[in-house]
Formats: sequence, C-alpha cells, structure tokens
Amino acid sequence: MNAPFEHLAAPFGHDHGPMLTGPFAPVLQEEVLTDLPVMGKIPTDLNGVYLRNGPNPRFKPKGLYHPFDGDGMIHAAQFKNGQLTYRNKWVRTEGWLENEKQGKETHWGIHSTLKGRDDRPMADSANTDIIGHNGKAVATWYLAGKAHLIDPITLETTEAADYGAHGDGQGVSAHPKVDETTGEMMFFDYFDHAPFMAYGVVDKSGKVVHHVPIELPGNRLPHDMGMSENYSILHDLPVYHDEAALAAGRHKIRFNASMKARFGVIPRYGKSNEIKWFEFSPCFMYHVINCWEEGDEVVMTACRFMPVTDENGTIDEQATAKMIAHLGMNARLWRYRMNMKTGEGSEECLNPDLNCEFPSCNTSFAGRRSQYAYLVDHNPKTLHWMGIRKFNTDTGESMGSWTDGPKHCWYSEPWFAPADNPQSEDHGYVITFMWNDKSKEQELQVFDAQDISAGPLARVKIPHAIPVGFHACWMKPNQIENWNDVL
Ligand SMILES: [Fe+2]
Repeated sequence: MNAPFEHLAAPFGHDHGPMLTGPFAPVLQEEVLTDLPVMGKIPTDLNGVYLRNGPNPRFKPKGLYHPFDGDGMIHAAQFKNGQLTYRNKWVRTEGWLENEKQGKETHWGIHSTLKGRDDRPMADSANTDIIGHNGKAVATWYLAGKAHLIDPITLETTEAADYGAHGDGQGVSAHPKVDETTGEMMFFDYFDHAPFMAYGVVDKSGKVVHHVPIELPGNRLPHDMGMSENYSILHDLPVYHDEAALAAGRHKIRFNASMKARFGVIPRYGKSNEIKWFEFSPCFMYHVINCWEEGDEVVMTACRFMPVTDENGTIDEQATAKMIAHLGMNARLWRYRMNMKTGEGSEECLNPDLNCEFPSCNTSFAGRRSQYAYLVDHNPKTLHWMGIRKFNTDTGESMGSWTDGPKHCWYSEPWFAPADNPQSEDHGYVITFMWNDKSKEQELQVFDAQDISAGPLARVKIPHAIPVGFHACWMKPNQIENWNDVL
C-alpha cells in the first residue's frame, strides 16, 4: 500500500493571488500509485491511459500568478486488465530544468510580462493541452511553443520538438489535431507580427511535412482549430491584444463587435492562398468539438462564447473582453456550416440553455461525422467545473449529466475511452478526475458513456488532491509505443 502524502492548501502562501490555493493548490511530489481503493469495479474491457495536463508550479512564483504560467504537470490513469496505476510528473521543459538547477523560479508570468521581453523572460510551461501522436503524448502551451513529447506510461519527457518553428514562428499552439485514420497531426502557430499565424502537418512518424504562413489582418488570440478528412479550419476571431498596450509590453485584450468571427478552411496540404474564409457573428471561442464534411459543406461543432450584451442586446465590448481576460466562461454548443462551392456559411445554436465547455468526443471519429460529445458543466460565477454532461450534437439534446455536488465538486475535462472491440460510437467509458472540496477527497471516476446519469461505475480514491487543470486525452493501447512492456 502506498503512503499518502499531505496536501497543502496553499504551499506558496497567499501572496500570489487565488489561483494557487484550495482546489488550485499544486502538488509538489511525483508519484506512482497502485492498489488504490476502488468503490465499484474498474471495467476489464477498458484499456489505455487517461492523461490530463495542467499548471502546477514547482517553485514559488516571482509575482502575481496566473494559471497559464504554472509548470505543466501530467496526471495519468493507466487502465490495464482491470488494474489501475496513477502517475504524475512535471513536463521537463527548458524553463523547468533551469529552475531545478537554480532551485527557484527564474521566469515571470503573464501578469508581469509579455512573451519575449528580454528583461523579463517567460517560460513555455507546456501546461495546456495533451494529445496522443506517433506513440507519444504531445504536451503544448496556449501561447505556442515547443511540442513536448512524453512517454504516455512513464510520463518522461523525451523530446522538445519545434515542429517548424523557424524564422518568425514560435512553434506549435495548444490543440493540434490528430487524424487517427492516417496518423497525421495538424497544428497551427500564432505570433504578434505579420503574418500572425502559420499552419502545418506532422506525418505519422513525427516529421513536419507541410508548413505555410497564414496571413491574418492583425494580432489575434486564437486557441483551437478544426480538422476534417480533407481540410483544416483555422480561427480568426475579433479578440486581440490592444496595440498600444502590446507596444508598451503589457497585456490588454480587446473584443471588437464590429468585426466578424472568421474561419479559414484550407486543404490539409493547401498553400497559403488556397484558404477560404467564412464570416460569422462576432464571438470568442476556445474549443472545437469536432469537424467533418457533408457534401460540399465543412461542418464545425464548437463551444461558442456568448458576448456580454446590455439590456438592448448591444454587445458590451469591454465587458466581453474582461470576461475573456478573467477566464469567465459563458459558452453554448454551436454548429457552423461552410459551403466550399458557394462560399456561403450558416451558424446555429444547438442548445441555448446549457453553459458547457472543455469538450471531447470519440477521437476515432475526429474529422469524421460524430454524434456525441462529453463536456463539463460550467458555473460562470465561481469559474467552477461542477459536473459532466453528454450531448447529442446532432440535436443539441442533453443525454445525461452527473455531479457529486454542484457547489463543491470540481471535475476535470472528461474524455471518452472506447471499450475493447467497440460496437458503436459511444460504446465505452468516460473518465474524469473529481475533487470534492467539502470532504477534501480526490477521486478518479469511470462512467458508462451510454448512461452518464447512472453515476460512476468505479470511484478510485487518490490520496492527494489533483489541482484543477486544463486539457486531457485518452490514448488507446495501439497508440502507445510501449504498451506491451507495461505490466
Ligand atoms: Fe484549450
């Protein structure tokens, strides 16, 4: 039996803002835990690894802390033949290794600096996203940096790939997309000078085989992209750095309601001038659920942020920018259709009532038509991910939800894990971490994806808190290069 270690509610004190205490408090140890107590039963036809990335500073921050700053830490739950192993490990970024050598934090955060300012270096924390590709897990950062390749079992960082970062580019943004049919990984990069964006493709062996500049009208804050069988969908949203603040080395986000949201559809190996732009109502957006093609149309389902409006329905630009800057979320399921032949686009809200984000789907269907999505229920007042929910994205209908307590339970991004030999799109399980801030208990929960509302099939007790984080993924045995070496 493993000895539990003490969880500190505020290991760095209270001087660095609220995002390092309580449910956000980092863990300061790396562990491998087996034989953990289980309530219920771990399904024997569930094999693979759930990986979740998130900020977890190793040392006390230099200034006011923001969650985008903290060193990326991967928490992993490996399921094999009904047994579970939990592991956690920091991503060995350049910044982390430098800090370790000096025994202190040597970088500044986004409250104190802009990326690239010489007198206040900022680290690529690799803390935002994670996805499986070419046998490895790929950890990426929201501001774009290196693609940190990680062994999905041991969580050791094996390489920091720059994926085409040359000349003006930074490397790769969070949210590359993997086509599981071909093994290719599509990615974008963005930066604060012309052309402002780049797009690339990595082949199934990890080699960059395509990289083109994408010209945007100005600096932008894109976060995600889409992928269908033949196209990639890039985002140009009316959200950007205020130019004067940028020149002065400060962060100030603008939302411009007179601009359109634009999505650019480019053939997978398209040249810069082959991109077709489609205009839609102004919005901000973090996450795409899935994209596919229907005849001449490219379809994108996503979580669209609702701009803040006054009593007349007029968009309040300042309040909307503030919501985005403060990580407030007011998102609705949305479907966009882009006709490649006529150039026409249409958009529709799929469910006006439910505020949900951090979506996942069955990634065997990524880029192909899918019907189901799994998201967190969001409470915009508390920034609180209070439960999980399944949607039918054809109809926008909720197909069930679960929470152990909407006021005090925090869920991580739920991810779909197929059963061995799946018979349908939703034949499998949904995996999430759940922190109960009332009982101070941490669980890993496993749901039947066809019946979320029945509650967890298995609750695995983990003897320390897993701080609130960002993105997760599921890697199947055939996506893991050393799966057969694992006990
Ligand atoms: Fe994200």
